[in-house]
Amino acid sequence: MTAKAISRRNALQAAGVTLAAAVVTCSGLGYAATRSPETETPELILGKENLMNKRVLVAYATRAGSTVEVATAIAESLAGRGYTVDVKPVKEKPNLADYQAVILGSAIRMGSWLPEAVDYVKVNQQTLSQLPVALFTVHMLNTGDDEASRANRYAYLKEVRPLVKAVDEAYFTGKMDFSRLSFMDRFISSMVKAVESDQRDWQKIRAWAARIFA
Ligand SMILES: Cc1cc2nc3c(=O)[nH]c(=O)nc-3n(C[C@H](O)[C@H](O)[C@H](O)COP(=O)(O)O)c2cc1C
Repeated sequence: MTAKAISRRNALQAAGVTLAAAVVTCSGLGYAATRSPETETPELILGKENLMNKRVLVAYATRAGSTVEVATAIAESLAGRGYTVDVKPVKEKPNLADYQAVILGSAIRMGSWLPEAVDYVKVNQQTLSQLPVALFTVHMLNTGDDEASRANRYAYLKEVRPLVKAVDEAYFTGKMDFSRLSFMDRFISSMVKAVESDQRDWQKIRAWAARIFA
């Protein structure tokens, strides 16, 4: 099949998904269809007993929960390095005044960081510019080492990158768990032939956390 034919097929598939989503939304089933199962967004403090007087915030945005566990693994590594680490959801708008460094992470939906994570960066842009900031992204597509994959995942931060000068950006493969999705998200996932799997590479995540801000 030619590249033109593939891109035409992709365009038709995308149009089909959009049309079907619009039909469900407009038919009054919209609210039920977009309602996700409740996802826990815990707040944790790790390394309270550490003597080093440096506090790091790991703030995350999630829909289905896998980013929370990534944020927690990062925080555990940092606590093991002597930092006191707060893990908080960005939707709680954590106050940056208490921190010497910040790690911000978001799941990807439809090619972008979650809106509450982007908003948090916008609102705190000034303070973030005075702190060491690292970013992590949890996603399922564009995971390859080829140029197209790299460019596509780099584009996930197109809204955020101009707002904050990060010391590092990490991309971690995530998890698809249909039981954690709304009807609509399951529908979209099945249209793009997504499969359930947990692709989180804990070694890679911990290795990143072991060297960040070193
Ligand atoms: C509706 C939907 C849209 C998604 N869109 C993308 C996407 O555009 N690119 C991508 O790489 N991953 C995409 N993903 C995969 C998620 O980023 C991945 O499952 C991630 O682990 C979700 O994090 P969470 O469990 O913290 O919400 C999508 C997942 C769903 C359910």
